[in-house]
Amino acid sequence: MVGEVRPGTEAPNTHSERNKGVGNGLSTPSPFSVYAIRAQFPVLHRAMHGKPLIYLDNAASTQKPQVVIDTLVRFYSTTYSNVHRGAYALSEEATARYEEARQIVARFLGARSWREIVFVRGATEGINLLAFSLGEYFLREGDTVVVTEMEHHSNLVPWQMACARKGAHLRVVPLREDGDLDLDQLETLLAQKPKILAVTHVSNSLGTVNPIRQIVEIAHAYGVVVVVDGAQAVAHVPVNVQELDCDFYVFSGHKIYGPTGIGVVYGKEEWLDRLPPYQGGGEMIREVTFEKTTYNDIPYRFEAGTPNIVDAVGLGAALQFVELTGREQIFRHEDQLIKELEKGLRAIQGVRVLGAPQKRVAAISFVVEGVHAHDIGTGLDLHGICVRTGHHCTQPVMRFYGVPATVRPSLAMYNTREEIERFLAALEEVIAFFRRGSA
Ligand code: ALA
Repeated sequence: MVGEVRPGTEAPNTHSERNKGVGNGLSTPSPFSVYAIRAQFPVLHRAMHGKPLIYLDNAASTQKPQVVIDTLVRFYSTTYSNVHRGAYALSEEATARYEEARQIVARFLGARSWREIVFVRGATEGINLLAFSLGEYFLREGDTVVVTEMEHHSNLVPWQMACARKGAHLRVVPLREDGDLDLDQLETLLAQKPKILAVTHVSNSLGTVNPIRQIVEIAHAYGVVVVVDGAQAVAHVPVNVQELDCDFYVFSGHKIYGPTGIGVVYGKEEWLDRLPPYQGGGEMIREVTFEKTTYNDIPYRFEAGTPNIVDAVGLGAALQFVELTGREQIFRHEDQLIKELEKGLRAIQGVRVLGAPQKRVAAISFVVEGVHAHDIGTGLDLHGICVRTGHHCTQPVMRFYGVPATVRPSLAMYNTREEIERFLAALEEVIAFFRRGSA
């Protein structure tokens, strides 16, 4: 049965049809109603330390709507079995749902074909896959890979490892004080014709939105392959991989209201077709003998072993939830919130916001004079507020700004203006507390 079950060409059926009887109660809020959206996220209704929970750690991971939770439970309860392997109806149903999820992802990203969608565990695994397979395909001693100073460690370390394996060099596009990339330096580096450029769409620590379309255009003019880390972007900015024209785009399900342990590598078909597999095992083969193994077609060549079937289906439900809620409406709402958050932070004495990029979405980093970021985080937690503190897996960014750690509130579709106001008031209280303590 290996490789025989393939998705049909018909468009996936609608979200409401697919979830009939699931009891998710989902309806499109129109006009955008953040309260209707919040009603669908059960965890947002719990308290923390006696206060209403305010979840502002969405860049680390987003909460899950009821429809995603129900999809997982329902799939395990009614449809679960292995995929692509069974001659029985239950396996065919499970396979159809898994492949339907692939089509949903393809449509969400604007890919040309489901063949361009590989399921992986998350963005980290996706980038490791590409660093390995691209490295094997065409990195040679003395070649160059370009990354940027704002990359998450997961879009830096795998390339360092690939360069070390192949004797290639890593070059870095510098950050500017305002939190944008130095595009002149980028072009200078690309003009030296490196093999690969690996760049994030949105910075996880600063919230900077990089002009990926423009960057891809420059890179392609010099014949450079572009890998885009979309982990922080897919939930917050429009993404259409054909318009961006990037060669690869990677993201994690859990940062876009889906389950953990599932992520996606998009690759242009002509690229994926050329790359060697990342891992060996079942499903990725066509024929195995002791002398030689031939490999399956894409995308299965890159999905060795039993995949994360259920969470892929859950990711499909999450993406449909986002589509139904309305990407434009979500982005507009988040844009208003991040502007209010930045304005409020800049008005607090002793707060230093890192960077002022031309476009910022969903995340912002700041430090407080005389108070460690971790103390601010602990103080905010006592107010029921969740934020990430630390280096955010971007030590080069911290080094650039000369700070050991920052406080990073980050937004999602369900955050409200009231939450931002309460966050800012709580922050002022926490700062005042530590100032009194140190006086
Ligand atoms: N990459 C996630 C973050 O930025 C975990 O917090």
